[in-house]
Amino acid sequence: MIFKQRFIKSISFALCAGAIAVGSSVAQANTFRIAVGDGAGGTQHELGLKFSEVFKEKTAGKHDTKMFLNGQLGDEQATINDASMGLLDFSILAINNVTPFSPSVGVLTLPYMVHSLDDAVTLTQGEVGQQLVENTIRDAGVRIIGWAYSGFRVLTNSKQAVSSLADLEGLKIRVPNNEIMIDTYRAWGINPTPMAWSETFTGLQLGVVDGQDNPYITVSAMKFDEVQKYITNIRYLFSIEPLIVSESVFQSQPADVQKAILEAGQAATDHSAQWLVEQEDKIKAELTANGMEISEPADGEKQWMQKAIDQVWPKYYKQLGGKDNLNKILTSLGRDTI
Ligand code: MLT
Repeated sequence: MIFKQRFIKSISFALCAGAIAVGSSVAQANTFRIAVGDGAGGTQHELGLKFSEVFKEKTAGKHDTKMFLNGQLGDEQATINDASMGLLDFSILAINNVTPFSPSVGVLTLPYMVHSLDDAVTLTQGEVGQQLVENTIRDAGVRIIGWAYSGFRVLTNSKQAVSSLADLEGLKIRVPNNEIMIDTYRAWGINPTPMAWSETFTGLQLGVVDGQDNPYITVSAMKFDEVQKYITNIRYLFSIEPLIVSESVFQSQPADVQKAILEAGQAATDHSAQWLVEQEDKIKAELTANGMEISEPADGEKQWMQKAIDQVWPKYYKQLGGKDNLNKILTSLGRDTI
């Protein structure tokens, strides 16, 4: 991991120096490219639309953006590499795909850490979020300038209704390449299949995997209802999806453009929280109208939660700044310490 980060950094600086020397498209561009992992109609798309609208307004139309949906500019994890090297301006992706490049961000993918939209807003827009922004610039060469709030990741599959952990047995579940999420499924008793986001629809369609987890709005934006039948309404992970800008691109902009980028990011973040509240129930109803069946986790999800917290959290204390740091975060959310 450390090697990977160092490699990214050294390549990044070399390329940036080269780009500036030849008068790169970065310095002159007035249409910035935004990679978006999900399809149209999702929270990522909505964040990008709002960001673009406000950014254009704030630069009096001098600058514009162009969004590339559905991973057209590469898989989400690949877009971090590209932005880090200054080859891509912006990317909107799920936080779980940032963690491999900036481990402390894993606090946002720790199972059952975030209990609500309010928790997600508190963590991302308060002191913790500010620290994560700085860590991500340092570790990955990208700056988080906005956040989309997408709701809890529910489990979907094509084979059977799942309510208890025993029902999971025998199912092949796709997870992102994220150690914390892999360990969570292991705590639940199965070995999940790590798979890039850009390959997930095809993987589900061809039966390489039977299921996956993502928020209702993402399930809809990715048309997973065409290849998945059953939903389990688990709440282990509230999906948060940052808008990142390449740090080298950001630093190459004049102060007024940097200011416009930051302000447009904040406006898009505020809009995202509101949009989720307005859309989630409607989209959930559309998915059931399209034939998906929703089950609630057995036992009020107690066993799911207990196993994940007991087996996964201790393994990541060190990566996440120690148990004391996690207790500080829990206290800031008004929760009991561990
Ligand atoms: C993933 O499952 O890899 C991501 O959370 C998908 C997304 O970006 O929506």
